[in-house]
Amino acid sequence: MPLQLIRNDITKLSCDAIVNAANGTLLGGGGVDGAIHKAAGKGLLLECMTLGGCRTGEAKITGGYKLPAKYVIHTVGPVWHGGENGEEALLRSCYRSCLAIAKERGLESVAFPLISAGAYGYPKDQALKIAVDEITAFLLQNEILVYLVIYDKSSFQIGEKLFRDIASFIDDKYVDEHFTFNYRGRNKDSGAGSAALESTVIESDAFLGETRVLPVAREAIPAPRASVPKSKKISLDDAVKKIDESFSEMLLRKIDEKGMTDAACYKKANIDRKLFSKIRSDAFYRPSKTTAIAFAIALELSLEETREMLMKAGFALSHSNKFDIIIEYFITNGNYNVFEINEALFAFDQALLGT
Ligand code: APR
Repeated sequence: MPLQLIRNDITKLSCDAIVNAANGTLLGGGGVDGAIHKAAGKGLLLECMTLGGCRTGEAKITGGYKLPAKYVIHTVGPVWHGGENGEEALLRSCYRSCLAIAKERGLESVAFPLISAGAYGYPKDQALKIAVDEITAFLLQNEILVYLVIYDKSSFQIGEKLFRDIASFIDDKYVDEHFTFNYRGRNKDSGAGSAALESTVIESDAFLGETRVLPVAREAIPAPRASVPKSKKISLDDAVKKIDESFSEMLLRKIDEKGMTDAACYKKANIDRKLFSKIRSDAFYRPSKTTAIAFAIALELSLEETREMLMKAGFALSHSNKFDIIIEYFITNGNYNVFEINEALFAFDQALLGT
C-alpha cells in the first residue's frame, strides 16, 4: 500500500526520511519539532543553524543523526487564521515541497506528521484531507512508500450524525458472539448440522474476527450419515474443471467493465504496482481481505458484487466484525470515498483501509 495511515510516534520510524513540522527559524520548538530534535540530538540543531531558516510552504533536508530515519525534511506549515489568507495553498505546498525533495534524493519511504494541525491550529479534518489529497496525487505519478502518521485520535473528526448512523448500523448487524463452525457447517453449540451451511465450509477465527468462507461443491462434503452413492462421486479433475472465475479474473473483468485502466484501479485502491502485477499474472492468487475490499471500493462494486469478489478470495463480509460492518454501511450507502471510510474506521478503532 503506497499510502499507509498509521498511529505512531514519528521519531520511532526507520523510514528513509521523516518530515518535521518546524517553524521558520528551523531551530526547534514544541510538538513534533521538539520531539524530533530531542530524539535526533544536538547534531540536528547544529546542521539546522547552517540553513538560514525556511519560508512557509517550503522545505529543507538534513541528516537524521540519532533518529532511526536517515534524513529529516523540515517544512514550515501555515498558521491558521480562518482560512482566508492562503493557508490551504501554503499547506499543499508543504507536502509538495517535501515530496519533491524525497523524489530528488531517490528516497523510497517518507513519513509525514499532520503539518500545521497542532500549535498552528489548522482544523485537523481539513489538514488530513489536504495531506491525503496531495500525497495520493503525487503517488499517481511516483513510486514511493508514504506514511501519514496520525498521532492523536482527534485528527480524525467524524461528523456526529455519521457516527450515530454507523453505530446504529453496527448494532443492527453486530452478532454478539463469534460463531465457530466445525467442518460440515455444524454449529458446536447445537451439534445439529445445518442444511443451509452444508454446501459451504465456514472457518471463523474468533480472535481475528475474520470469517473465511470456502465454497465447496456439495458433493465434496462427505454426508454425515449415508455414504455417498458411487454414481455421485466426481473425480478430482472434474471437480477442478468446475472451478469458477478466480478472484483475479473477476478483478480484471471488472476493471474492463468499468472502463478503468489497471493503473487507475490499483492506484485508487492504494495498492502498489508490484502487488497488482502479482495478482494479474497469477489467476489463482489469493489476496488479503483488506486488499480484496480495497479493490471492491476502488471499483465501486455493489454489495452483491463485493461479496462475490471476497468469496473468490476465500473471505466473506462478516457480521461478527465491525470493520466489515462499516464497509457494508458505506457500500450500502453508495459512498466509496476511502478517506471518509477511513475516518469512520478510525473513529470505531478499526484498522484503516490502506494500512
Ligand atoms: N509523532 C507524530 N506526530 C506528532 C508527534 C509525534 N511525536 N508529536 C505531535 N505530533 C502531531 C500533532 O498531534 C499534530 O497532529 O503533529 C501534528 C503537528 O503538530 P505540531 O507539532 O504542533 O506542529 P504545527 O501545528 O505544524 O505547529 C508548528 O509548533 O512545535 C512548534 O516549532 C514548531 O513553531 C512550530 C509549530
